Amino acid sequence: MMNGQNFNLSAYLSDKRSILEAYLNKILLQFDQNREIVQAMRHSLMAGGKRLRPILAMASTQAVGGDFRFTLPAACAIEMIHTYSLIHDDLPAMDNDDLRRGVPTCHKAFSESTAILAGDALLTYAFKILSRPDEIKAQPNNDPVFKSIPEKSILIELISIISEAAGLDGMVEGQMMDMMGSSFVSTLPYLDKIDHLKKLHHLKTGKMIIASVQAGAVSVGIGLDSEIMQLLTRYAQKIGLAFQVTDDILNVEGDPDLMGKAVGSDQLNDKLTFPTLLGVDKSKEFATELVEEAVESLFMLPQNFQEPALPLKAIAQYILKRKK
Ligand code: IPE
Ligand code: IPE
Ligand code: MG
Ligand code: MG
Repeated sequence: MMNGQNFNLSAYLSDKRSILEAYLNKILLQFDQNREIVQAMRHSLMAGGKRLRPILAMASTQAVGGDFRFTLPAACAIEMIHTYSLIHDDLPAMDNDDLRRGVPTCHKAFSESTAILAGDALLTYAFKILSRPDEIKAQPNNDPVFKSIPEKSILIELISIISEAAGLDGMVEGQMMDMMGSSFVSTLPYLDKIDHLKKLHHLKTGKMIIASVQAGAVSVGIGLDSEIMQLLTRYAQKIGLAFQVTDDILNVEGDPDLMGKAVGSDQLNDKLTFPTLLGVDKSKEFATELVEEAVESLFMLPQNFQEPALPLKAIAQYILKRKK
């Protein structure tokens, strides 16, 4: 059924995407849909992102032979945090973008204050889900949304991993570095610029991608210090950087209609990117090398994990080819 040749990634992605979106929808439906804040959250959360991080979490669970239903609380929380980060990233005080996921950005569709608060609400609710998934109730019958729930010690581990990746020494610091702008960076020698950019990307994007892969394995009881986790973490580090290198390339030569967001903005905002440092062709080579290294890490997993890890392998390759 699932051999290397005929693994159908697009079917896998769309299947997992629709499962995740059904859960996100149930989470939102707990609240009065007439509230402006709920409408703003829905506007951004349900606008149809790729859902890469939650799908990675589910694929990681499957790679270690686990049942991905246990990963759904973490998957939903991660996508809510990611969406909050996009809402805030698009604000006038940050990247000042008008289009996201093919629809007007949250502050354009609502107001700046509502967008800030919708982001805050998504971020905080993510931790409600992670801490008490049993209390998330589907309307109108009050049925529990999550039927497979990891034990408490695992939930605490997930809160720790995800809050570290999203916060002060993770995405938030990456965004700080990104906002610091080019004047300081332009004074650095060339190799330091590359190191600076790798660090920025690792913090801004890499850590949430690593946390997603780790969360998938942790949700079904794989320890953080196990050898399997080290291989999965190395895989995630490599694809995390490749993902952001590709994002930079798409900002230069992507199709805005496919991507649902503006292109050319990095140059306009004078952002330090891999294409500006290495050129587009070398950036593509670099991303390809990273993906090869990611796949190598998966080959080092025990033999009985090779077939279950096919979705992770296919996702790594998809990161290179993606058009959005
Ligand atoms: C966009 O993330 C922001 C980056 C970290 C590059 P995605 O490209 O995953 O955006 P969505 O979730 O599909 O909209
Ligand atoms: C966004 O990074 C990363 C976040 C942590 C939100 P970018 O600003 O580079 O991504 P896009 O191009 O707006 O999606
Ligand atoms: Mg930004
Ligand atoms: Mg941006």
